[in-house]
Amino acid sequence: MSRAAIYPGTFDPLTNGHIDLIQRTLKIFDEIIIAVAPSFKKQPLFTIEERLEFIRESVSRLKGARVESFNNLLVNYAKDKNSVAILRGLRAVSDFEYELQMALMNRRLDADIETVFMMPSEEYTFLSSTLVKEVASFGGSVKGLVPDAVERALKEKFKK
Ligand SMILES: Nc1ncnc2c1ncn2[C@@H]1O[C@H](COP(=O)(O)OP(=O)(O)OP(=O)(O)O)[C@@H](O)[C@H]1O
Ligand SMILES: [Mg+2]
Repeated sequence: MSRAAIYPGTFDPLTNGHIDLIQRTLKIFDEIIIAVAPSFKKQPLFTIEERLEFIRESVSRLKGARVESFNNLLVNYAKDKNSVAILRGLRAVSDFEYELQMALMNRRLDADIETVFMMPSEEYTFLSSTLVKEVASFGGSVKGLVPDAVERALKEKFKK
């Protein structure tokens, strides 16, 4: 039986930290479904289509990875997709409290789906989409932190 993990997030935009996690997950699971949430509350910089396209491009060479958007309850979506786990990243202690809360809530909603945490390579432990957008908005370089297509798109968005 093939085992799939769901990797939910806003991915606004995709960073090399996300990609690092996707690659690690594929060592353990047969499949990873990257699930992009619209996240209107966060007022995303990129549209859902743009976010999906960055991911699609970046994972096309990774066997077992695919990307979709979702806007229903995560555990229901995970069940619909027959996935056995929710994948989340842990960068620093600061991620822990929120992630624990989410993991326990999701377990309460559906005890069959486990949340699995992965740590990125240490060069990405400080990296978030928020930080990347902040640096790019002031004209700083994010080379090496995001895929090339994302780097170009950020330059375009923040062009004066
Ligand atoms: N550099 C990274 N290393 C490991 N995990 C990461 C990294 N960046 C994000 N993640 C994980 O990816 C998942 C989806 O994250 P999300 O879309 O919120 O990205 P983010 O970089 O945290 O963006 P934001 O700053 O908008 O919260 C979360 O579980 C998050 O912990
Ligand atoms: Mg986040």
